[in-house]
Amino acid sequence: MQTATTLDMLRNAQAGLRAGGGSVALVPTMGALHEGHLTLVREARKACDHVIASIFVNPTQFGPNEDLDAYPRQLAEDSAMLEAEGVALLWAPGVEAMYPSGFVTSISVSGVSDNFCGAARPGHFDGVATVVCKLFNQVMPDKAFFGEKDYQQLAVIRAMARDLDLTRPHVQDIIGVPTVREADGLAMSSRNRYLSPEDRANAAALPREMKAAIAAIEAGADVGNALATLERRLVEGGFASVDYAALADAQSLAPLTSLPPAPARLLVAARIGGTRLIDNMAVG
Ligand code: PAJ
Repeated sequence: MQTATTLDMLRNAQAGLRAGGGSVALVPTMGALHEGHLTLVREARKACDHVIASIFVNPTQFGPNEDLDAYPRQLAEDSAMLEAEGVALLWAPGVEAMYPSGFVTSISVSGVSDNFCGAARPGHFDGVATVVCKLFNQVMPDKAFFGEKDYQQLAVIRAMARDLDLTRPHVQDIIGVPTVREADGLAMSSRNRYLSPEDRANAAALPREMKAAIAAIEAGADVGNALATLERRLVEGGFASVDYAALADAQSLAPLTSLPPAPARLLVAARIGGTRLIDNMAVG
């Protein structure tokens, strides 16, 4: 596996990769890799001849009081995991390579980013859209892989790629990969490592109570009541607070007050022991 830390290194390494022909997949990450990330890499390997993974803890998607400085960084360990998965090229730029001094551009996607994490974390999705647009332009992959774990992020990236004509010719396809979970149902996340053993055990209430709420909604319960019960049970189960628990249209992410015939999604963000966890599941 080659590693590039500057744009020149990336371009040289890519020229070598592409000289032999074959399709290229991109798997963007912020590192601190776990089985969720590695599943994206495995799907990418199945779909394309070469996989380029990126690791960049993107400062512009963190708010002023968020965990940018504390975010786990373990490049050597991550690099060994990616190499073992058959990744051809690791793109691991420093902040200066991604945002040279004088950088003034930002991409803002309205609509799908208005609610939920977009409302709770102002500017977050602008940072995500801008860095992912740059990654698409830098790598020009045939396919790019993202997790459904970050469902709203996936919707924002799809909307941006469509509106800015990135999906053809730059990126042929944006592939969403189902959420990879721990044995007790908790969605894998780099932030799970912040949890104390007690909070980690209690965190399993999130997927468990989401499933209970979905079963109630699908059985005809009032959506508002089911969401209120979900929030109450999370707090009873050890969560400090719930940022949001909402039913939304699976495509537009418009909030819903009743179960429609079209696919819907339950989206939750909740805090436990100072850590903010998110999860989402299909409804209906
Ligand atoms: P990060 O949180 O490192 O996640 C990288 C990719 O892995 C994202 O597409 C995310 O949805 C996916 N992922 C994380 N946990 C997963 C799980 N349990 N199952 C399946 N996929 C999972 O998301 C980001 O980084 C950044 O916002 C990024 C897109 C790289 C832009 O900076």
